[in-house]
Amino acid sequence: MSGGHREKQGMQPQMNEEVPLKPGPMPGLPDEPQPVTPGGEPVPSGEPLTLPGLPAVADPDQAVELDEDPAAQLMELEETLPRPDGPAADRPYRIAVFASGSGSNFQALLDASRAGHLGAQIALLVCDKPQAKAVERARAAGVPVFVFTPKEYESREAYEQVILAELEQAGIDLIVLAGYMRLITSVLVEPYAGRMINIHPSLLPSFPGKDAAGQAVEHGVRVSGATVHFVDGGMDTGPIIAQRAVEVFPEDTAVELQARIQETERLLYPEVVSWFAAGRVKLEGRRVSLFE
Ligand code: GAR
Repeated sequence: MSGGHREKQGMQPQMNEEVPLKPGPMPGLPDEPQPVTPGGEPVPSGEPLTLPGLPAVADPDQAVELDEDPAAQLMELEETLPRPDGPAADRPYRIAVFASGSGSNFQALLDASRAGHLGAQIALLVCDKPQAKAVERARAAGVPVFVFTPKEYESREAYEQVILAELEQAGIDLIVLAGYMRLITSVLVEPYAGRMINIHPSLLPSFPGKDAAGQAVEHGVRVSGATVHFVDGGMDTGPIIAQRAVEVFPEDTAVELQARIQETERLLYPEVVSWFAAGRVKLEGRRVSLFE
């Protein structure tokens, strides 16, 4: 009943060590959660979107220009300092990434951390497949890994209890699901309520569950995208934190669409994690907003 093990990293270099403060927006990404129109209205790719009561999607070029203005940069930094009720400023904000497969989102988080854009330390990879590429990526980056084989446990709850102990031991502030293809029970959802997020390759609530890109192609939608949301007890049902639209072309296959959505995911996810690390995310009911 104890199929999981924590790999010791020994003398491997820790390439994801970071200071806890967020340096500012990532080039090419807006600094606010991006709503989709209610009822799944198409969102034109690359064009600003406005909705009543919601900010316009920022022009990606503007974000880059901001970085070139030192005064604006300073103001931005001041605005993103962790709040008193936010993450502790005296130690790095620590995240655990859960992955089951390739781990390209995990890699994007590693790269952002290394570049100083994440404001968080990737303290643990949790993986249910010992042969997954995500495990290789973690080893290469010197990130501690907890790998387990689900069928060696009596139940989902049983292995989640072991994972929970690993998370507590590692002092994890935020669980970041990145292609973790297993249902999660209250064993993890309850202690990490409001501190567990997932990325999904569609504009939720459309196309939850498996093969979201295939579902979108099959349905004939013209716009799909990526959603980052809080994890609750349901399947891809938690409050939405951020979304980005991706155009669907008539000739798209599910594989082609999934690949383009993943390009977007790799930009969006590190940005969202940086908001959490800076204590900027506020959840009220189902509504998520950002402290300025
Ligand atoms: C990502 O596209 C992620 O959105 C999806 O799995 C892929 C993992 O890719 N997750 C889901 O479908 C969850 N319902 P990666 O291993 O290369 O990051």
